[in-house]
Order: sequence, then C-alpha cells, then structure tokens
Amino acid sequence: MTPQRVRVHHLRQAKERGERLTMLTAYDAVTARIFDEAGVDMLLVGDSIGNTMHGHDTTLPVTVDDIVLAARSVARGAQRAFVVADLPFGSYEAGPEQALATAVRVMKETGVSAVKFEGGRRVAAQVRALTDAGIPVVGHLGYTPQSENLLGGPRVQGRGDEAAEALSEDAVALAEAGAVAVVLEMVPAPVAAQITEVIAIPTIGIGAGAECDGQVLVWVDMAGMGDWSPKFAKRFGEVGTALRNAATAYVDEVRARTFPDAAHQFDA
Ligand code: KIV
Repeated sequence: MTPQRVRVHHLRQAKERGERLTMLTAYDAVTARIFDEAGVDMLLVGDSIGNTMHGHDTTLPVTVDDIVLAARSVARGAQRAFVVADLPFGSYEAGPEQALATAVRVMKETGVSAVKFEGGRRVAAQVRALTDAGIPVVGHLGYTPQSENLLGGPRVQGRGDEAAEALSEDAVALAEAGAVAVVLEMVPAPVAAQITEVIAIPTIGIGAGAECDGQVLVWVDMAGMGDWSPKFAKRFGEVGTALRNAATAYVDEVRARTFPDAAHQFDA
C-alpha cells in the first residue's frame, strides 16, 4: 500500500500535538527512497547540493536548473515525504515577481510540495505572493548560507537581546506572510525555543537546540560521509568509510581476478 503523503496540514498538526518533525536533505532518487522508507517526514532539495555534491565551496553557484534536476529526482524517489526545493541565490531576492516566476517553474517541472528561501522581513512580500498563488513556502532564518559573505561565514546568529529580538520579528513576519514552516540555522537554543513558542508554524532546527518542532540535517553530515561534520551535526553512521571499504574490496578483487566469479557471470 502506498503510504499517505505528508502534507501542509500534517506539519501544523504535528506542532499542535507536540510530535517532532524530521527532515533530511536529499539530492537524488536513490537517497530519497531510502530516507522516505526510513520515515523521514520532509526531504529538502537544498542548495547545499553545491557544497555536498557539486564540489563548490559555497551554495552561491547553484542554479535553478541544478535544483530542478535534483528536485525532480527526489520527488520521484519519495512516496510519503513532503518534498521541499530550495530557491537558489539570485532567483527570488529581486522581488515577488521574480520569486513567483522561479517558484512556478520549480513546482511545474519537479513535483515538489513546497519551496524554501532565505531571509525574514526582507522577503515577506515574496512569501505572501507565493502563498497567494497556492505555493507553500518554508522560511530560513539564522545563519543563511547564501549571505555567507555578508555574515562572515558560518556563525551563530541571534546572540544578544537585540539580535534575538530581530530574529523573532523575522520569524513572526514569515508566519504572518503565510509560511508553512521555518528553518532556524545556528541559532542559540533558548532563542530558537522562544521563537518556537511565539509562532504557530513549526520551527525546524539545525544547530538550534532541542526545543524546535523538528530537526533537519544535511544527509552527508548525518550519515558521516566526509571526514568532518559541523559541531551541531551528529554522525549517525560512518557511511563514507563503509563506501570506501566496499570500493577498495572491489578494486582488490578485480585485480586479484576473484571477481567476477561463477556466481556473477552468464553461462553460454
Ligand atoms: O541547503 C540546505 O541544505 C539547507 C539546510 C542547511 C537547512 O538549507
């Protein structure tokens, strides 16, 4: 039986019931299927694809075409999860018209359920325009990687009364504009907890403490694909090592002529 698709009202219900939401990034159909089967509620086709998959240092070079290709694959791989696609740098900041044009393209060409973009009050008009057009929007506050040059790299945001207040006002503005959830990245845990209490939509934390309504991690960090993971990203596996070991065993067996053996070839 096909599992019931997670939809916007389930996100709100989860918050009301105090049930934690889970989100992971995914960039292809293979991982999307695995995470979907594991019961992950939301899959994010993040512009972190730039760093994690395309070998860039930042998310800035990621294009709408990159996101469309990845989002299509993830949407095909996921049967249950609520799939969200990032709008990349330069594709929504100019105003509601640009954001709507990009989001309409992404929705039409990929089959995702929502889009996400970075910023608070400065993009509230974009959130409103997309919501009015029937496109669910997930916000993203705190450390926003597309602004990394202005922020001076990955740094905790919202420390101190003034910064915390500004962050809270941004979250309220996004919720009032119609956002269905908001990602809080690298925000002090007490600040994220306070925002979570103030707004009615779910907060999804990444480096924002345990009181958020849900958690998101970049899957390569979660699975331990690389040698290094950020402080907030617990390694739930050592998949990079397992993959390297598998590849090494393959290389050894081919060189030793023990693969392919009789079980892995065809008779005449
Ligand atoms: O692009 C991404 O992976 C993200 C997460 C860090 C939330 O925006």
